[in-house]
Amino acid sequence: MLLSSSATCHQEQQARPQSQPQSQPPKPKNLKPLTPSQRAFLSSALRVNQAGELAATLIYTAQTPPVVNREPHLKPLMKHMYDQEAGHLTYFNGLLAKHRVRPTALYPVWSVLATGLGWSTAVLGKEAAMACTEAVETEIGAHYNAQIRRLIEMVTEWEAEGYEVGDEIRNLTKELGRIRDEELEHLDHAVEHDAHKARPYWLLTGAIQAGCRGAIWASERV
Ligand SMILES: [Fe+2]
Ligand SMILES: [Fe+2]
Repeated sequence: MLLSSSATCHQEQQARPQSQPQSQPPKPKNLKPLTPSQRAFLSSALRVNQAGELAATLIYTAQTPPVVNREPHLKPLMKHMYDQEAGHLTYFNGLLAKHRVRPTALYPVWSVLATGLGWSTAVLGKEAAMACTEAVETEIGAHYNAQIRRLIEMVTEWEAEGYEVGDEIRNLTKELGRIRDEELEHLDHAVEHDAHKARPYWLLTGAIQAGCRGAIWASERV
């Protein structure tokens, strides 16, 4: 069941002997069940996020050898960005398993395309590799922001109706904010390391951003 919140709604507490007042279980939260559209949104959000983070780890894995070969001083930066992506992937892998959300059926396609994108931009040079990161993170930052906005709308609506908000939804919103900030940090690193000097910059970043939008659209659905 996905981020279930209703199982304990309005349960009556069992009467307890007066001699055991401290052993009472915590009062169940007054949580509103997810609507079908909220459930569908959360499933597709987790699915597309996991696919995106898998792609990110593969892009950095493919980029790192050619980039570091030419620019050894970039090794710590590439490792730092890879490590953060691996952490994001582990987080979403855990949520998919916990809530039994199926991964995207396009997993093998994205794996091949992400590795190809990482490798081909890196062999063009450090600038193209960084332009790739800038383009990807621009799209991913906007993508996470849209999800965070939708979650805040859900939470605001529940609170206005007098319901409590479950820890899972609060934690997911907080974690998406943290991950979004790390993606935008990668974007800043890419610009600092000459992403804008890539040639042809607009063609490269435009094509990669369009590809990301297509991949997000497809992974949300398939
Ligand atoms: Fe990431
Ligand atoms: Fe990233």
